[in-house]
Amino acid sequence: MPASTDPEADVRALRAEFPALQRLREGKPPIYLNNTCMTLRPQVVIDAIRRYYEDFPTCGGGRSDGTKRLHNWFQDELREHEAHARDAAAQLVNAHSADEIVWTRNASEALNIVAHGLALEPGDEILGSEREHNSNLVPWLEAERRLRERAGDPDLVVRRFFELREDGGFDLDLALAAITERTKVLAIGHASNLDGTVIPDEAIRTLAERVHAVGGVLVLDAAQSVPHRAVDVRSLGVDFLAWSIHKMCGPTGMGVLWGRYELLARLAPFVVGGDTIADTWQDRVEYKSPPGRFEAGLQNYAGIVGAAAAIDYITNRVGFDLIHARELALNARLTERLAPLQCDHFWLLGPEDPASRGGVITMASHSGALINAIERVGDETANIMVRRGMFCVNAYLHRRFDRTDSAKNNLRASVYFYNTLAECDAFADVVERVVQSPLDYLDDA
Ligand SMILES: Cc1ncc(COP(=O)(O)O)c(C=O)c1O
Repeated sequence: MPASTDPEADVRALRAEFPALQRLREGKPPIYLNNTCMTLRPQVVIDAIRRYYEDFPTCGGGRSDGTKRLHNWFQDELREHEAHARDAAAQLVNAHSADEIVWTRNASEALNIVAHGLALEPGDEILGSEREHNSNLVPWLEAERRLRERAGDPDLVVRRFFELREDGGFDLDLALAAITERTKVLAIGHASNLDGTVIPDEAIRTLAERVHAVGGVLVLDAAQSVPHRAVDVRSLGVDFLAWSIHKMCGPTGMGVLWGRYELLARLAPFVVGGDTIADTWQDRVEYKSPPGRFEAGLQNYAGIVGAAAAIDYITNRVGFDLIHARELALNARLTERLAPLQCDHFWLLGPEDPASRGGVITMASHSGALINAIERVGDETANIMVRRGMFCVNAYLHRRFDRTDSAKNNLRASVYFYNTLAECDAFADVVERVVQSPLDYLDDA
């Protein structure tokens, strides 16, 4: 969106495009602050999904290898949309070609495809940070389990982790020091869903060079970065990238795996069967080239059409400059209001400077009742939607906060470009009321 002289008017215009933001409950609109989990959808995305079901509701087959299931009117239209969607996803991350784009159900599935498909041997090591999302931890723990079984050694250490700074920020030296001759996979999250911290581009380039020098690959979990900033796989030098479309205004149940083509071609397919094969015989199978070999069965065609609309909307209608500016301003307001409330039963996680935390602010407490009360009062009095719990980074929270008895008592507010300063204030008002007079609100403890 071209910068205008009135950013609030720009945001009002964008908000008008989101049907969910026009709803009222007891005369009040929703205040949606759970964007890290899933964003809302604009009308153009909803229309694109509906168009699939209304206009060309057939099975697809728009593979870039030219395979065509059918030759007919509906199929030809769908094939055009599929090709456009794969091109749009490829351009979004500056892939070499659309054949490097694999549709998945979500970022988790994309990471599972890589963790399952890489040819690792006992003795190889997998490295991550201490704060990987479960979707970028558990698939690697499963790879470790498989290698232990193969080696017949239940104690074989395959996955190792490096520490972050005390405030949760990334430290390149700690990461580099953990890479050894055995590191065959470096699987790291680009941006944290807990505190919004990001690994700088320059650090990713350095890590990629180092891991390539020892014969490894860099797998980037970009679930929290692709929706918020320009991510260029070629410039970063990474090997695999996973992200989800439902965190960038797109349909739920849609994700993407990007991989360097020559690496995708060596990756063993994970879920196999219909449409992944070039041909079969009673005793053998010949798989398609990527990406087809990774996309088993009929696909989520409505989701693919919706994904194209979402990518077009984020890149052409909204733009990453506006997303960045809004997140900065909104998180600055949240931080300015919430930081002074910190006390011995309420504090903020992550670096102090909101500019280091994207659109995320997370609160913690020794008291689960306090966190519950903020969520409940926010919902009941102001239609505020936030997220409470461990946000799928259990391993990190256990490691860091079990001793302060606060590993589970967290509440996260996360903004996207359509949120407003007034919404941030409404949330801060609720937090202020509960934190300053907890006894008035802890009746559900
Ligand atoms: C950092 C990170 N990685 C991975 C995921 C998993 O994404 P998905 O739900 O698309 O599988 C999430 C989801 O919140 C996330 O925040």
